[in-house]
Amino acid sequence: MVDAGNVLFRKRFTSQTRRKEALMKIDVLLRAYEEMGYAAVNIGEKDLILGLGFLDEVAKRAKFPFISANLIDRKNRKTIFRPFITEDIAGIKVGVIGVMSRWVNEVLKEKEPYLEVLDPVVAVKPYVEELRKSCDLIIVLSQLGERGDRELALKVPGIDIIVGGSRGERIRYSKIRETLMYRLDPRGGYLGKLDLFLVRKGKPLHLTDYKQRDRIVKKVETIQKRWMKIEREIELDTGKSPSKRDVRMKGLAILERRVRELKKRVAEFDQRNLYKNEVIPIKLAIRDDPVIGEMIEGYEIELAKLYGIERAVERGPEKPLSDAQILASIPQGGAYRGAISCKKCHRRNFNAWSATEHAKATRTISEAFKQRPPSEDCLICHTTGYGDIKEYRFVEEVPLYLRGVQCETCHGPGKGHPGFGTKFRRVTLGVCRNCHTKDQSPAFHYKSYLLRIGCTIRK
Ligand code: HEC
Ligand code: HEC
Ligand code: HEC
Ligand code: HEC
Repeated sequence: MVDAGNVLFRKRFTSQTRRKEALMKIDVLLRAYEEMGYAAVNIGEKDLILGLGFLDEVAKRAKFPFISANLIDRKNRKTIFRPFITEDIAGIKVGVIGVMSRWVNEVLKEKEPYLEVLDPVVAVKPYVEELRKSCDLIIVLSQLGERGDRELALKVPGIDIIVGGSRGERIRYSKIRETLMYRLDPRGGYLGKLDLFLVRKGKPLHLTDYKQRDRIVKKVETIQKRWMKIEREIELDTGKSPSKRDVRMKGLAILERRVRELKKRVAEFDQRNLYKNEVIPIKLAIRDDPVIGEMIEGYEIELAKLYGIERAVERGPEKPLSDAQILASIPQGGAYRGAISCKKCHRRNFNAWSATEHAKATRTISEAFKQRPPSEDCLICHTTGYGDIKEYRFVEEVPLYLRGVQCETCHGPGKGHPGFGTKFRRVTLGVCRNCHTKDQSPAFHYKSYLLRIGCTIRK
């Protein structure tokens, strides 16, 4: 098990409590990774955003190594973390190297001036050359993006596999010369699995796609079926029509020759090292691991304790407010006007929407979390204007006029509407998919869901 990196946090902490929360979360993460048997985790640029001190603290707690071949100490020019690891797996010696992208140098110059990120090609090349002497398989964990990975594969021969972190690029696997390149969608939606079937050693191993063999095997099967059919036909009409029989016998001879050829080609694969790639979507149907589930439960209980006091302070008014009160709370000139301001002109839409699940979406979260604070991870989809207005952390922080999944999440911010030139965006499937993801809304079906949002659909 390996991870291409950027597993920690991107945001600085605004308080000691938040820092504590982050460390608690990281502890769960580290223990879960241990439980899953991670061999190494690459350091991504974003793992450095909270500072080297923090990362160092995290790395010390981990029982598996964080690696990076191109993050160095500016003064002594040595790597800060281990540049690579090696491990024996089923009689194969595997070397794993980590590498990150250079853009972070800009950030480091200000915040951690004694750190530097070297050019990936320059940094990785000597390690590959060194490892090539002893390792059968060399894997690079990279945060260079697709272009960077391509460049690395071309300029540094001898890398067998590059496991790339994703920046919203589509799921991909490709092969550049001898190097296999993989990347998956971000945020843990998929597990990538690579099986190697090795019949001989060699550096490099010269891996061939298993599918090529499969394709030929399938061809043989189809031909054999045809063959059997012809044989049956011959059996059925013996003696009746000799000339037809001759044609059939000739056909059989051709098929036989073809099968023999193909089988020979299949046999050639027995001499080759094969690989087989699988992308496994982490669907709801996949059962949670009981040990890790327990860790997460424990974390949530601790988190509730941590925020017990803070939440009482942040709690908003208990009584429902009148329309006038909510309207008065809307900031002048803001991009979002709130569903309540649409009400006076679009009463029908407003009333219909009010009866939908969307109107209740923020309440759902506070109910789901009666005994523990909701994480910001939920509020992204269960509120309006998340990110544009603010990155809410608690239900209490969500402005009253933006609770629920409102009109403006679908139609876009209402500022300036109605008026000359202000046009709402077209609501498309893509809009729904922002929130109705495979994980969160496995039953999502566009047409039937559209009928239940309260608005009139034109066609
Ligand atoms: C002052 C009255 C008024 C308010 C307030 C108002 N609208 Fe409208 N809305 C209109 C009028 C008039 C039209 C039709 C003319 C137009 O498209 O500008 C319209 C049209 C629309 C349309 C249809 C556009 C189309 O392409 O057919 C949508 C969607 C819409 N409004 C959404 C909203 C939302 C969301 C809000 C609240 C943020 C809102 N409106 C607030 C008056 C209003
Ligand atoms: C900002 C995020 C977001 C967007 C965008 C969004 N939804 Fe939703 N939707 C939700 C959430 C969250 C819920 C669950 C609300 C609850 O139960 O509290 C939901 C629930 C629903 C439900 C009710 C499902 C049920 O189980 O009864 C329907 C239907 C629905 N959405 C349709 C749509 C359609 C169609 C679109 C696109 C036109 C869309 N939604 C866009 C977040 C969103
Ligand atoms: C990526 C967007 C997204 C995120 C993040 C998200 N939700 Fe939802 N949630 C939805 C959508 C969409 C639905 C409606 C699903 C449907 O019925 O098809 C929903 C439905 C729900 C429901 C009601 C349906 C049910 O299963 O009973 C609950 C409760 C819920 N979410 C809780 C949460 C909590 C708690 C979190 C944070 C841990 C969270 N959600 C994070 C989008 C999201
Ligand atoms: C889940 C997404 C979603 C939400 C939330 C939503 N709408 Fe719509 N709305 C749509 C879609 C989709 C259409 C149909 C557009 C089409 O047919 O091209 C639509 C159509 C409309 C129209 C034009 C057709 C009609 O029904 O008269 C108006 C006006 C409108 N919406 C206003 C609103 C207002 C006001 C709210 C909030 C109270 C709201 N919408 C909430 C998705 C949404």
